Amino acid sequence: MGRRARFRRLQQQQQSEGGEDATKRGRKRSAAGWEGGYPEIIKENKLFEHYYQELKIVPEEEWEQFMGALREPLPATLRITGYKSHAKEILHCLKSKYFKELENLEVDGQKVDVPQPLSWYPEELAWHTNLSRKILRKSPQLEKFHQFLVSETESGNISRQEAVSMIPPLLLRVQPHHKILDMCAAPGSKTAQLIEMLHADMSIPFPEGFVIANDVDNRRCYLLVHQAKRLSSPCVMVVNHDASSIPRLHMDVGGRKEALFYDRILCDVPCSGDGTMRKNIDVWKKWTTLNSLQLHGLQLRIATRGAEQLAEGGRMVYSTCSLNPIEDEAVIASLLEKSEGALELVDVSSELSGLKWMPGLSHWKVMTKDGQWFADWEEVPHTRHTQIRPTMFPPKDLEKLQAMNLQRCLRILPHHQNTGGFFVAVLVKNSPMPWNKRQPKLLGRSAEIRDAPHPSPKHPTGGKVTEPSEADSKPLSEVGVVEGIQGMEDADNDGSKRDGVCGPPPSKKMKLFGFKEDPFVFIPEDDPLFPPIEKFYALDSSFPKMNLLTRTTEGKKRQLYMVSKELRNVLLNNSERMKVINTGIKVLCRNNSGEHLDCAFRLAQEGIYTLYPFIKSRIVTVSMEDVVTLLTQENPFFRKLSSETYNQAKTMVKGSIVLKYEPDARKPGTLQCPIVMCGWRGKTSFRTFVPKNERLHYLRMMGVEVLGDKKKERLVLTDESTAGGGPAETKMQAEEASEPDGAAGSDVTTDDGPDGTAGGGTAGDGSPGRAVGDDAPGNGSLDGAAGGDAAEDSSLDGTVGGDVAGGSSPDRTAGGDASGDGMSQ
Ligand SMILES: C[S@@+](CC[C@H](N)C(=O)[O-])C[C@H]1O[C@@H](n2cnc3c(N)ncnc32)[C@H](O)[C@@H]1O
Repeated sequence: MGRRARFRRLQQQQQSEGGEDATKRGRKRSAAGWEGGYPEIIKENKLFEHYYQELKIVPEEEWEQFMGALREPLPATLRITGYKSHAKEILHCLKSKYFKELENLEVDGQKVDVPQPLSWYPEELAWHTNLSRKILRKSPQLEKFHQFLVSETESGNISRQEAVSMIPPLLLRVQPHHKILDMCAAPGSKTAQLIEMLHADMSIPFPEGFVIANDVDNRRCYLLVHQAKRLSSPCVMVVNHDASSIPRLHMDVGGRKEALFYDRILCDVPCSGDGTMRKNIDVWKKWTTLNSLQLHGLQLRIATRGAEQLAEGGRMVYSTCSLNPIEDEAVIASLLEKSEGALELVDVSSELSGLKWMPGLSHWKVMTKDGQWFADWEEVPHTRHTQIRPTMFPPKDLEKLQAMNLQRCLRILPHHQNTGGFFVAVLVKNSPMPWNKRQPKLLGRSAEIRDAPHPSPKHPTGGKVTEPSEADSKPLSEVGVVEGIQGMEDADNDGSKRDGVCGPPPSKKMKLFGFKEDPFVFIPEDDPLFPPIEKFYALDSSFPKMNLLTRTTEGKKRQLYMVSKELRNVLLNNSERMKVINTGIKVLCRNNSGEHLDCAFRLAQEGIYTLYPFIKSRIVTVSMEDVVTLLTQENPFFRKLSSETYNQAKTMVKGSIVLKYEPDARKPGTLQCPIVMCGWRGKTSFRTFVPKNERLHYLRMMGVEVLGDKKKERLVLTDESTAGGGPAETKMQAEEASEPDGAAGSDVTTDDGPDGTAGGGTAGDGSPGRAVGDDAPGNGSLDGAAGGDAAEDSSLDGTVGGDVAGGSSPDRTAGGDASGDGMSQ
């Protein structure tokens, strides 16, 4: 039988008989409970099977196992973010409590396996469970565990992430000084990993490196913003470009502009996604080769653009969740070929011990959407030239092919370790790309190599010729990139540094269509708003106030954000070419009534871990018991806290404070990681400004379980809990005895809060009569909705405080786009 005839027969078979077995199989699995009793789709696609059997991506004897694994739902995997020093505590909590509760648990007659750590992920920070998403959401026995996952995901302490998706960032081997570009970053689970790696040393508030996370899809950029915000890093910038022509950025180095070359690039390209069919079951119905044929060109252009912007010695990881060699090895082979030795595949076989994979293919052929196979570009008739491109084939020159070491690519097959399918290749750059040969070698450690424009490479990529970006194709003087030897352009000469304003540029050179983000305005160091802040918080002289910015050029500055020195440099030198969606973390917010206080700005929890090392006053060290009281009560009177706490605060004037818990290694039963919280010292009481999920996180770490109840949260004090009523009333200071003695919050009318919303009247959520504490803005407390304009505040019933929805403000996506359970790729 001819190939075409065989193909047609396969198509017919698929339509007629193919589904029957699968339906039966589906019923059987439903009975087993994994799909919660819902009818399944038919998990059959004969073409898919035919295609991959021909390409031999799976050893013949493993074929049934491979197909069997694809038909099973994908188990959930979770990653504890190693970013915060709290990771160890979470791990402890998971192992000693939540995983213990899963022992001997049965759901729908099926035993739940206790999660196991992924052997190749460092420090037991990633875990594999046999719980599908659906089961986690629906099973009452798993409610507590599910809530834990949701809440800890929101506060950035846990990420539900596919196991295979954790691999690329690990293989990038990120160091805190690396300048990193994540080319196709949304929704951002890998970006989060990269950010965590930058902050591996938590004692450094501003690592030298940064992550620029890009996505072409503007709406998905806001998913990225949400993801990045959970990690409160001043070293992240979200930008919105087509990665295949992402502009070359520049930095001011010693007063001269130099092109920015990245030390690490993640190129996690858009793909046909057939490795995700365990999760995205639609792939079963829709799979054809057309998607991969159409994506190949874009994938190659993105990878080429990445390679151009990689520093010499830098690493780039190319990955897809497709098993298809057209999107995988063909892209890598073509990139290597056009690099003429500038790029090399890295042997990473020893880098993730315990991970199983198949070596990359060196031979493959190309199938058209209607089933015609071609082993050689020469065989492809002209009529097919728009669909099939020469770069889709392996190189014909065997010596060249061998030198590419395509076997160094990794293809992860679902049945090997119960994951999705995935492809990864790690490249290192030895020299400039051939068309950037004038790229000078300059400076020392990182991103210091600049390339010069050059005509585009001639290789066709999926029907299009790879064009260097607009910036690259301009004369050097126009793009501000000048050879070191020939002299450098003055950083100030291009007008992009207009009084520290870098925002939606009135660009003549490059039109950023539809771009309407608020500007990023750096605050001049002599701005009169600084002295009161510096005095009030006794900021250390090393505090880099030049890195503070606002998002408005007019009116009062309400929120102050902070970026690292390096990102400031990037922002100031690229406003004309960059669509920045978001950057910076909020460190200070103006109080509505703050003008009457000694300082108009209160601390913001989002940026407290960055700001705290520079704050030298208004710090109150609190015990674990006090932390519980502060986080579970709306605005506890001073007398509800320990005398030690009160004594530290009693001489302080009203206003924002830092509440700090220091672990005591001599008391191993207590929380062993530090906590820094923003608070308010009122007239008679304290208040904390900690968002809901972060509160719940701290409470859980201290053994206080919070159970979800649609209407109201319930606190359950577990055995380990120290919250047994808080410190004794006898600790109350004599001078407080005359204070009103009602329930928390009853003294509200006596004491204005930071935003002047004192009083027991209407709260931010509009619920009449709810008592608001003396320290007004809603704090996301356990028994009410957040009010006021404290953006970081959120209540337990899911409302997020005030300004989050504000148009193009950097907070506008907070809580918005994120999927319910924080599940990302
Ligand atoms: C596989 S997903 C990336 C997943 C992401 N790296 C993560 O770990 O969460 C591919 C992303 O590429 C984006 N994309 C598609 N075409 C693009 C292009 N030309 N430039 C930049 N991003 C693109 C899509 O919007 C999508 O968000």
